[in-house]
Order: sequence, then structure tokens, then C-alpha cells
Amino acid sequence: MFYLESLFLNNFRNYSKLRIDFHPRLNIILGENGQGKTNLIEAVFFLSVTRSFRTNRDQDLAGLPEQYFFIKGQFVKDDFNNLLQISYNDKQLKVVIDNDRKGRFDHLQQFPIVAFSPDDLLIVREGPAIRRRYINLEASRLNQLYFLELRAYHRVLLQRSKLLKENRNRRDLEKLLEPWDDSLITHGSAVIRFRKELVRQLAKEAAPIFSRMSVEQEELSLNYTCSFASDDNCVDLEKQFREALLKKRELEFRRQTTVVGPHLDDLCIIINGRDSRKYSSQGQKRTAALALKMAEVTMLRQKNGSWPILLLDDVFSEFDGQRKEQLLDFLAGINSQCFLTSAVALEKLPAELAGCYYKINVQRGIISHEKDGPGS
Ligand SMILES: Nc1ncnc2c1ncn2[C@@H]1O[C@H](COP(=O)(O)OP(=O)(O)OP(=O)(O)O)[C@@H](O)[C@H]1O
Ligand SMILES: [Mg+2]
Repeated sequence: MFYLESLFLNNFRNYSKLRIDFHPRLNIILGENGQGKTNLIEAVFFLSVTRSFRTNRDQDLAGLPEQYFFIKGQFVKDDFNNLLQISYNDKQLKVVIDNDRKGRFDHLQQFPIVAFSPDDLLIVREGPAIRRRYINLEASRLNQLYFLELRAYHRVLLQRSKLLKENRNRRDLEKLLEPWDDSLITHGSAVIRFRKELVRQLAKEAAPIFSRMSVEQEELSLNYTCSFASDDNCVDLEKQFREALLKKRELEFRRQTTVVGPHLDDLCIIINGRDSRKYSSQGQKRTAALALKMAEVTMLRQKNGSWPILLLDDVFSEFDGQRKEQLLDFLAGINSQCFLTSAVALEKLPAELAGCYYKINVQRGIISHEKDGPGS
């Protein structure tokens, strides 16, 4: 089993100092609005992913008015312990695992965590950029090669788009673009292949979860849409990418930027055959977002052999009775360490979870622990 055993925070959001032990199975974090429930699981998420699910700016996490924070967590995996320490000071982030200094994203796959918060509705509801960000994070966590290809692709994209912005004569520019086109196609095609495979697997896992959670056994499917015409099995992807680039040359010169490539792709989330962004209800969208996250949980388990840690922020206030029950059943059926936040007490837990949890009360960044039940 894989779990976070303890956490220490210094000057993180509204926690000036915190030292807490967690239950290996379920931790229910209760408190009124604005007390620090989300902040607590944000810190847990940050340990694993080295970024927040709410902000891209590290400095937002430093307890005001200071400019530093420190997070330390003890993870247990089977019989091994890992001490992970992250400090932020002077705009610099430092990651240390068991006394070894690491690069910021080196441990992206080592301590797998899946977070679900009300904001995840945006994945279904908003524009493509947010879905690309979602896919990039998930694919990077499942495959280190994806992360490297994506990084290489973004470097090429930046250079190529910079060239297009420089005012040169057309012939010079054509010549200069050639090698960049090659790299763009190589790394871009790799990124697209990884993403299509991820989407195929996600769809396979998410569909049954979604239909179980929906009242009328609705159907969820996913479709990865490329910024250029390409076949599903990606056999001629490089050729199709090149053709599209040549076809869009004029447009690129005019717009002075790269207009073809995976930085413009999208993931279409389809419920009962229709684009959910346009046709689905708020509840259907929320259920689809949750099904995607739960699918990710099962995929991480298949990849790693152990369940990822699961963070559920304020999820229960948003779902109706049946969905709440389905979600709790799902949690009872897997063997993840789970963190649940809620502003109201939870009514009924499945029998499998009763007595296997800590209740953690939060008030203005101060924690009080109630250790419940015989299993704790
Ligand atoms: N950088 C920061 N420094 C100090 N305090 C902060 C910082 N960022 C947020 N806060 C405080 O943290 C509190 C919000 O915490 P959090 O979002 O965890 O609340 P919550 O318990 O999840 O509430 P809700 O039930 O409304 O979601 C607010 O009081 C906010 O002012
Ligand atoms: Mg909150």
C-alpha cells in the first residue's frame, strides 16, 4: 500500500505551523468555509506534483506577508519510507528526497496523487486550453517520455514562432523554417501519439464508471481532435503534419505564429453522442469530470501496481444522493488513501470504511484530530 503518513507545513497559506499524522485509508477534513480545508490538501498535492491545482504561481502559497513556505511529507510505499521536502524561498523552489536534491519535476511519477475539486468541472465546460493542460499533466504522470517530448515540442514551438515574428524576407524565412519544421513534426507527432493512446485508455476506463454514476445509464465517449486532418491509427501522421504545415504557410506568415500542431488540439467529451460542452447539464458535466478522474485512478493503479492517493475537495456538496453513494462505493472498493474535505458532516459511510478513518477538524489554520473507530 502507498500512503502519506505525516505532513509538516511551515508558512503554507493560512498554516503558520502544522504537524499532522494521517490515516492510511481515509481522512475526513471538516471545517467551516475559509478555514483551510482546501489549503491542506493543496499542500499534499503540491508535494506530489510540485504545483498547485489552484494556482500556477508558487508565491501564492506562501503565508502572507512572507515570501517563503516549507512542506515536508513522509510517504510509505510497501515497507519503504520516503521523506520529501519542498521549500520555497527567494522565488526559488528546492526539492529534496531523502537528503538528495532533485529537479522540480523529477519525482512526478514517484508519489502518484489524483485530485478532484469542483474546479474540475472546467475541464468539461471551458475552452480547449484547460483540457490540453489536463491531458499534459496526466500523460506526463503516466509516462516520463511524454513529458520529455512535450518539453522538446514547446521549445521548438517557441523558437519557430519567434522566427515567424521576425521581419525577414520570405525566401530567407522559408529556409530558416525548414529545420524547425522537421523538429516540430517529430516531437509534435510523438506528443499526438501519446495523447491519442491516453485518450483511448481513459475512454475505456471512464465509460463504465460514468454509466454507473448516471441515472439513465448514459454513455460517455472521448474523441481527440487534431488541429489538422489525421487518421485515427496515426500511420501517416508525420506526412499529414507536414502537408498541413505547407498548406498553412501563408496563414503562418500573416499571423506570424505556428498555426498547426498539438498545442492547438482538443479533447472532445461526448455524452450520449453529443458534445457535452454544448449540450450537457451541469450535473452531467460534473459526473463526466469525476469519471475521468476515477479512470485516471485505475490507470495509475495498473501502471504502478499500487493505488494512487486520492484527494476529493468539497465533492459531496455538489452531487445528488445517488452520485454521492456511488462515489463512496467506488472509494470503498479501491484501496487508495483518501482525503475528503467537507463543510458539513458526512451522513453515512459504507460499512467497509466505517472505523477506518481519522476525522480532522480545521479552524483558522489550526487542526484538531479526532481519531475515530477501532481501525484507527
Ligand atoms: N497565501 C496565503 N496566506 C495566508 N492566508 C491565505 C493564503 N491563501 C489563502 N489564505 C487563507 O486561507 C483561507 C482559505 O482556505 P481554504 O481555501 O483552504 O478554505 P476552505 O476551508 O477550503 O473553505 P471552503 O469551505 O470555502 O472551500 C482563507 O481564509 C484565505 O484568506
Ligand atoms: Mg475549500
